[in-house]
Amino acid sequence: MTLKGLLLAGGTGSRLRPLTYTGAKQLIPVANRPILFYAVDAMVEAGIEDIGVITGETGEEIRAKLGSGNAFGCRFTYIPQPAPLGLAHAVKIAGTYLGQDPFLMFLGDNLLRSGLKPLVDRFASGQYAASILLTEVDDPRQFGVAVVEGGRVVRLVEKPADPPSHWALVGAYCFGPEIHEVVATLQPSGRGEYEITDAIQTLIDRERVVDATFVQGWWKDTGRPQDVIEANRLMLEDVPMSMQGTVDQASEIVGRVQLGRGSRVEHSTIRGPVVIGENVHILHSYIGPYTAIGDGVIIEETELENSVILPESRISKVPERIDQSLIGRGAVVQGGHKRPRAVRLVLGDQSRVDL
Ligand code: G1P
Repeated sequence: MTLKGLLLAGGTGSRLRPLTYTGAKQLIPVANRPILFYAVDAMVEAGIEDIGVITGETGEEIRAKLGSGNAFGCRFTYIPQPAPLGLAHAVKIAGTYLGQDPFLMFLGDNLLRSGLKPLVDRFASGQYAASILLTEVDDPRQFGVAVVEGGRVVRLVEKPADPPSHWALVGAYCFGPEIHEVVATLQPSGRGEYEITDAIQTLIDRERVVDATFVQGWWKDTGRPQDVIEANRLMLEDVPMSMQGTVDQASEIVGRVQLGRGSRVEHSTIRGPVVIGENVHILHSYIGPYTAIGDGVIIEETELENSVILPESRISKVPERIDQSLIGRGAVVQGGHKRPRAVRLVLGDQSRVDL
């Protein structure tokens, strides 16, 4: 069975402001690679060659980054969504593209350690109207929640105040063609969206078999800044060592470190796992574990760890160690001011600073 793919790359990214005022949430990098690229890789690895990409306001940027699909070994068809009206709405507007083919829908801001192949293989092996992926979470109230009996999903609720289980829906779903009939009948939920969770519940009400697969390894929905930092940490666990830049005699590199072309490390200590892009300059600094630094960044007389630094930022003479931070493109963070000591800030709307 060959499945088509439906990759969701729209939405507003409100919880990742201010970064998402100027860019798509799915293009925020973890381990120096846009989150969306890992999603495409996972789909291709699961055997999917034709992928419909749902885009929103940031459609131009997504299209420019993904291109035709050649670079990933697949073909993209772009499907603009006029407004972010939910996952079932995305299926609805992709109806013509998908036709009667079975398909895998994946949220472009989700990351899965063990990929999508187990879900796709499972769906292909049985006669299911849908196959969903579940994982156990501490607080199920922020997810779709499933009740499973004897390997079958018997009930689903979207973001319940009183969750019936701890099994959350991960953003990956396989569907047969009946889903199209069902999404056509849906009404918007309390948050004004057409919920895929409600669509799957309708399949269950029609006594169709909805199968559940459980996530092996980690899963991360990168909706909030702390999730991006955590996803970066998880991805860096697997990063291979590679040294293309230059490191002077006065510096020390410990553990797994990637240093891109044209980058220079001087009088500094780098303790991996760390990835550093191209043309980065690190001077009199300490870069600690689980840090990703984008192209063209300058870091001077600063200690930094557990952080994601986007390209072209400049960080210098910061008096305290920077930890668990997400710093946007072209940002400037600098210390070393004369007395009286003060904090001077120019922050974008909805920025956050913890001092
Ligand atoms: C969506 C789904 C939810 C699922 C979650 C996974 O939520 O509606 O059922 O658990 O993705 O990331 P949203 O991201 O729209 O809040």
